[in-house]
Amino acid sequence: MSWNRKHLITIEELSVAEIEQILGTAAAFRKILSRSVKKVPALRGKTIVNLFLEPSTRTRMAFDMAAKRLSADVISFDASSSSTTKGETLRDTAQNIQALNADMIVIRHAAAGSPLYLSRILDIPVVNAGDGAHEHPTQALLDAYTMREHLGNLRGKKICILGDILFSRVARSNIHCLTKLGANVTLVGPATLVPHWFTELGVNVSHDLKSALADADVVMLLRIQHERQTSSHFPSLGEYTSMFGLNKTRASWLSPKAIIMHPGPINRGVEIDSDLADSSRSVILEQVTNGIAVRMAVLYLCAGGQPESVTTTE
Ligand code: CP
Repeated sequence: MSWNRKHLITIEELSVAEIEQILGTAAAFRKILSRSVKKVPALRGKTIVNLFLEPSTRTRMAFDMAAKRLSADVISFDASSSSTTKGETLRDTAQNIQALNADMIVIRHAAAGSPLYLSRILDIPVVNAGDGAHEHPTQALLDAYTMREHLGNLRGKKICILGDILFSRVARSNIHCLTKLGANVTLVGPATLVPHWFTELGVNVSHDLKSALADADVVMLLRIQHERQTSSHFPSLGEYTSMFGLNKTRASWLSPKAIIMHPGPINRGVEIDSDLADSSRSVILEQVTNGIAVRMAVLYLCAGGQPESVTTTE
């Protein structure tokens, strides 16, 4: 089957076969990252613009690295020194980037729907690097890739996502990705942040941390997304930590083989104890490294590459 998408906007719209194509392509590119020469010519001559209008460390740098590993030229848009500060609209900014002959835009924006909007008005491919509380597709793909490295096939595996689900684009993309891959997903946290209606997405909702952790193969922690919450959803951060923070005692409820994940940025001592974040069962930094390979795959495929044509020669 060939890859037919120009844009990557959501996981929700992807078929299982398309997810497999991305993960398979990422596996081929992952090998390059451990070589001394970490570069292939796949996107030589192409220019990719990272249009990040919301803060980012991991995603922006991973897209930057991924483009460079594919030999593309990369321009990282600096919002604070751009004409957006003079009132230029997203539409005008993006159309000017296209007029400057960019070949692809990777966008992060606080407004849900921004990547879809750009994909409808531009001729070049658009990749969603996180839009509001909507989706963060490449995060879910790198999470699935990392889980498969540890657990193999995810069908029937029990994945517990713990924390601020309501405001999390990472949770939404992971719910779509993991359920498509056959995993059994349980969302856990306070009822205000994990409302029951999430069950409509084919997942379980629980407010009982102990039972949710007991049979989990993976616990994925999410930070409290203060930047998106419009009112307080729990009395205080201290109370959140005392009820739902992953500490040594609660980690002992997990199976010894269960892995701990977090998309970052982590708030040490809030959703996770510092020692656990650095422990041998934490795969948080593996997620970051795998994020380069997954983004290489997404850039390569959206630029018109085909999974079966991946070449890893320099
Ligand atoms: N996981 C993630 O999106 O991290 P950044 O906000 O640093 O990109």
